[in-house]
Amino acid sequence: MTVNDWNAIAASYAQIECDTRRQFLFPALLAALPAVSGGTVLDFGCGCGDLVIPLAKRFHRVIAHDPAPRMLERARRGWDESHCPGAVEFLVDTRDIPDAEVDVGLASLVFQTIEEPDRILAALEEIARILRPDAPLLIAMSHPCFQFETIAASRYGDNGSPIAVTLGELRFLDYHRPLSAWVALFATAGWVIRGLSEVYDEPSYYRNRGLQPSRFAGKLPLFLVVEMKIGQSVHRDEEQSK
Ligand SMILES: C[S@@+](CC[C@H](N)C(=O)[O-])C[C@H]1O[C@@H](n2cnc3c(N)ncnc32)[C@H](O)[C@@H]1O
Repeated sequence: MTVNDWNAIAASYAQIECDTRRQFLFPALLAALPAVSGGTVLDFGCGCGDLVIPLAKRFHRVIAHDPAPRMLERARRGWDESHCPGAVEFLVDTRDIPDAEVDVGLASLVFQTIEEPDRILAALEEIARILRPDAPLLIAMSHPCFQFETIAASRYGDNGSPIAVTLGELRFLDYHRPLSAWVALFATAGWVIRGLSEVYDEPSYYRNRGLQPSRFAGKLPLFLVVEMKIGQSVHRDEEQSK
């Protein structure tokens, strides 16, 4: 998926109807954020800005970044129309952010949309530059083991297989990687995993919308949230505990 691809679907992405992100993932992601309030949070690949308002209620400053200007425009419009007080900056290019500027980072459903491992690594390294050394980063992804039944059952080990995602009228591509490939990418970019959480849906959510839930609804997790820190801080923690 290129910037142009995301620009082209920005309007329909903002209007997803049966939206398991909003119902299940975003509340879980917000609950997984550190309890501290204040400081600066980065929403990397913020898309249409669903998390901007809740983040602005928790942090002094929100940096909402997305390389696709039309996605970012949607985020900015949503923020303007909310009339919430708070400091939000909308950035197409993270290179404008100074080193170690950010206290908490999150990236929701971003990395699975990037085809090339080198671009994933570049993005993870850029986030490491922007976050202060001991800052947490939360990454949310469609659960690589369970979200896409056909992939999990038939070619789980494929690294980088495209997956056609269809949400109502909206169509785009994700790229499947097994857990081992994700962990290797995170480690190569210098990140250390501190925690995992798995996010489930509920069959009633679909039934209430006149839809048939999948046979796995509520039984297998839809999303995986990975909490990481930059590796150096692990060594520092170890030194301190000696
Ligand atoms: C599936 S959307 C997710 C948007 C939002 N974070 C959410 O959870 O709804 C993926 C977003 O990642 C952005 N994106 C794609 N490649 C990126 C990259 N290399 N760095 C940052 N964002 C990227 C796209 O422009 C798009 O807005």
